[in-house]
Amino acid sequence: MRRLALPLAAFTAGVVLIAVALLAFVGQPAQRQAASVGGPFSLTAQDGRTVTDADFRGAPYLVFFGFTHCPDVCPTTLFEISEVLRAAGTEGQRLKALFITVDPERDTPEVMKSYLASFDPRIVGLTGSPEAVARVLKAYKVYARKVPTSDGDYTMDHTAMVYLMDAEGRFVNGFDLKRPPDAAARDLLRYLAT
Ligand code: NI
Repeated sequence: MRRLALPLAAFTAGVVLIAVALLAFVGQPAQRQAASVGGPFSLTAQDGRTVTDADFRGAPYLVFFGFTHCPDVCPTTLFEISEVLRAAGTEGQRLKALFITVDPERDTPEVMKSYLASFDPRIVGLTGSPEAVARVLKAYKVYARKVPTSDGDYTMDHTAMVYLMDAEGRFVNGFDLKRPPDAAARDLLRYLAT
């Protein structure tokens, strides 16, 4: 019996270790999901068309969340994105950027259309029902909150990150706009080849 006890103990320890490892592995998908960003969506573009994430496959694209009443961050970011798209030249014809509203209440397709007229035409403005927008915000882990203003109106607090998605619609990383447009454009064009 004694001679069996040690291998048995080792075996038991082994089984326990494997069980722990398995449990840790099973517990992981939730964590991995938490790290993943993006996902399917169906929204309305500024021309009234219904568009889905599948419409943007085939070329990399940037995704930015904001709202047309934003006083500074949104227009600045959209201007910077426009500069990058311009710097990408003819090679970057197929590049796109999505401007998804966090304020669907005020940002109708018509409002988005007139607002985006000041920026690069490759920027697609997307809005939808509050529920549809809420789902996209959740998928991209975007923080957005209504903040009342003294005049009885409201503004929005929101995540100002720019997401780089590859040609398959997979999240690559946060896209750095704080560099010369040429450098940012070269970075973006690298994902056209894949
Ligand atoms: Ni903003």
